[in-house]
Amino acid sequence: MGTAPECSFVIFGVTGDLASRKLLPALYALHRSGDLHPSTRIVGYARSVEDDEALRERLTRAAREHVDDFDESSWAELSERIVAVRGGYDPEGFASLAARLEELGIDAHVYYTSTPPEAYEAIVRGLAEAGLAGPERSNRRLVVEKPFGNDLASARALNADVRAVFDESQVFRIDHYLAKETAQNLAVLRFANSLFEPIWSNRYVDHVQITMAESIGVEGRGAFYEEAGVVRDVFQNHLLQLLALVAMEPPARYDADAVRDEKVKVLRATSCLAPEDVVLGQYQAANGMSGYREEEGVARDSNVPTYAAASFSVGTWRWAGVPFYVRSGKRLSAKSSEIVLHLKRPPHVPFDGLPEPLPADRLVLRLVPDEGISFRFNAKVPGQGISLERVSLDFSYGERFEGGVPDAYETLLADVLRGDATLFMRADEIEAQWRVVEPILATPADDPAPYPAGSSGPLPALTLLERDGRAWLEPGEA
Ligand code: BG6
Repeated sequence: MGTAPECSFVIFGVTGDLASRKLLPALYALHRSGDLHPSTRIVGYARSVEDDEALRERLTRAAREHVDDFDESSWAELSERIVAVRGGYDPEGFASLAARLEELGIDAHVYYTSTPPEAYEAIVRGLAEAGLAGPERSNRRLVVEKPFGNDLASARALNADVRAVFDESQVFRIDHYLAKETAQNLAVLRFANSLFEPIWSNRYVDHVQITMAESIGVEGRGAFYEEAGVVRDVFQNHLLQLLALVAMEPPARYDADAVRDEKVKVLRATSCLAPEDVVLGQYQAANGMSGYREEEGVARDSNVPTYAAASFSVGTWRWAGVPFYVRSGKRLSAKSSEIVLHLKRPPHVPFDGLPEPLPADRLVLRLVPDEGISFRFNAKVPGQGISLERVSLDFSYGERFEGGVPDAYETLLADVLRGDATLFMRADEIEAQWRVVEPILATPADDPAPYPAGSSGPLPALTLLERDGRAWLEPGEA
């Protein structure tokens, strides 16, 4: 797409984990691909940074650890563009930042909040007070990491704080699932082909299953997870965004406003979760792995759910009567994220002696691992008579495209640098998503359903579909 315009890319919280694991490797990849403008500067801001040299050394260590195809000389080119600003979230800190940015002489700035969420409001205010941002300064952009608020009221308050300083077009709220190739490909599959969209409705789709299964536990983030739980961590954002991409109407144009207008409409039509439509679970020690309550930073009697399965309905002409079953959990048997559209069975099957019920066709959109798309259908086994077997038409990014898929953060940062907000959440989307999950945010008084670490989740999750005469697919089974 060519080199993005130059900017000073400010990372608040540059000494944190996200900066080392995701932002630096992404900036490095953009540098190598020529997307990053050669005069772009990376400004690392934190209380504990000393000077440019010390920060460069720290980030070089991080890059060696986290960058896959690390190359010393190409890293050296990027590293010399790193500068450090030491400061907290107070007027002195922002004054030093303003002075350093002025010295660098680049008018366009990106401000990335790679900090705990408690600092977001202070960052936005600090930037405004230091004269670094304002709605009229269109080349000053703000990137906000999730979690965006803790519930609907706090998300509204944060949106108001942000809106007081930035115009919506300058704000980029991250949901890295939107940058996964399969999530982006959903729009292409639906709107750049003629086969799929005609069947994309309650006329042909029986139900939709969206799964985000993780084999990892809380990975040292116990204290964060105690506040978040699975609903805030992934339902309010990644899973509802996937649902919106599946359920939205075709936008007139593929641009930030048109796409997000359609997503917000469908999110507003999505049912708020009622307790009877949700099963919550928590992993217990098993298979050599500790239970959630044994994790560091977790209360020994914690009722925070690490698993949830929910049934949503989308009240639109297109989706009336089609349940969207959505689930996610930590410490499940495998890492697997996928969206499966289960098609209705044909109204009349003219062959005798086939299994009852006939297996239904399925369209499987795989996000993790091995991003790709498969269509599973019935085919005739060669030979005399009619007997059927399940076959699959498969497309895998890894097999089809050399070089595989970029990391989501690489895509997202490139879009921020170019000012394209299509893959970022707008204020009204965030609020619509909180509305949907709000009724089940409170930590349950009773214990969530236990499930053994390394299993496929709590048994009561099965009943959510069984009561509708359906069944979950095992992750990866589709
Ligand atoms: C993050 C969640 O947003 O997404 C984590 O906070 C989760 O808990 C992660 O592990 C999963 O992302 P991915 O890309 O590895 O599926």
